[in-house]
Amino acid sequence: MAAREAPFLLLLFLLAALLAVEADARRQKDGEGACGEGWDCSGRGGRLCCNGTISDYFKAEHFEELFPKRNDSLAHAAGFWDYRAFITAAALFEPRGFGTTGGREMGVKEVAAFLGHIGAKTSCGHLDSDGDSLAWGLCYNHEMSPGQSYCDNSNELYRCVEGVEYYGRGALPVYWNYNYGIVGKGIKQDLLSHPELLEQNATLAFEAAIWRWMTPMKRRQPSAHDVFVGNWKPTKKDTLSKRYPGFGATMNILYGDFICGHGSTDSMNVIISHYQHYLDLMEVGHEHSGDNLDCGDQVVFNPSSKSPYS
Ligand SMILES: *[C@@H]1O[C@H](CO)[C@@H](O)[C@H](O)[C@H]1NC(C)=O
Ligand SMILES: *[C@@H]1O[C@H](CO)[C@@H](O)[C@H](O)[C@H]1NC(C)=O
Ligand SMILES: *[C@@H]1O[C@H](CO)[C@@H](O)[C@H](O)[C@H]1NC(C)=O
Repeated sequence: MAAREAPFLLLLFLLAALLAVEADARRQKDGEGACGEGWDCSGRGGRLCCNGTISDYFKAEHFEELFPKRNDSLAHAAGFWDYRAFITAAALFEPRGFGTTGGREMGVKEVAAFLGHIGAKTSCGHLDSDGDSLAWGLCYNHEMSPGQSYCDNSNELYRCVEGVEYYGRGALPVYWNYNYGIVGKGIKQDLLSHPELLEQNATLAFEAAIWRWMTPMKRRQPSAHDVFVGNWKPTKKDTLSKRYPGFGATMNILYGDFICGHGSTDSMNVIISHYQHYLDLMEVGHEHSGDNLDCGDQVVFNPSSKSPYS
């Protein structure tokens, strides 16, 4: 009897060994093996930061569900945006905590929040005829009828390049020469000379937008990422200005007084609606949107005219 069981046990053992090797390989491929080296998630969520990557919980099918009208015959950027471009760009920022901070649910929520901004800013919801205006995200990849040249040569660092136009382009549209300069420096592309890259290359368009989400506008200010995942602790001045961690503060950082501090406006609420709609589609549910969802009564971090995104 013992003799008959031996080969069976050996087989089991081999199988177990094989599975272990495979799991190890998978872990390394997913970047888990890099924890503590390249993965600098030293914020509060650090402990959980290596718990999976965005493509573990956000699949191509989700992308299709969130942006079902993007190839519609009425869409202005049909065929431009795709899942692969988003995942490729996102992977560059996962080591810094994008979608990987605070455990899986927070990861899903951060992706929904980020895409909520993107969806709202690139939507042609106004074209909708069947009550589904939130389905129209990623319809544009650039501003259609620029009302001005967006060239400000008082900025010495990033002067306009002759013959180049700086109208809104990308996933979280960039306007003005100096903003193309700053974002270009951030993603190591010469956007000042070639702003058109943001309407020609979806990976770069997502990369520019995620860079913006992850990066504070000014020293000693938080990034949209930090206020959303809870890395940021408001100061006394912040609480007096009604700035608390949550989705509302991400709008404050990204749009300033274009959107915030004017009470409950349509332009603010449509961004919130996209975020909540995506939370539903990603099976977290809009009831988990978090506290401090709006910024209607927040004082803005950076007042005015120089806000890059409107
Ligand atoms: C990863 O996330 C799951 C689900 O949120 C949790 O149960 C698990 O403990 C986490 N693992 C690590 C290593 O943080
Ligand atoms: C939209 O177009 C992209 C790029 O051509 C393609 O990958 C994707 O499958 C299309 N999606 C839909 C819903 O038509
Ligand atoms: C988009 O830009 C990335 C990064 O520079 C590059 O690897 C990729 O080949 C570009 N894609 C296209 C279609 O040009």
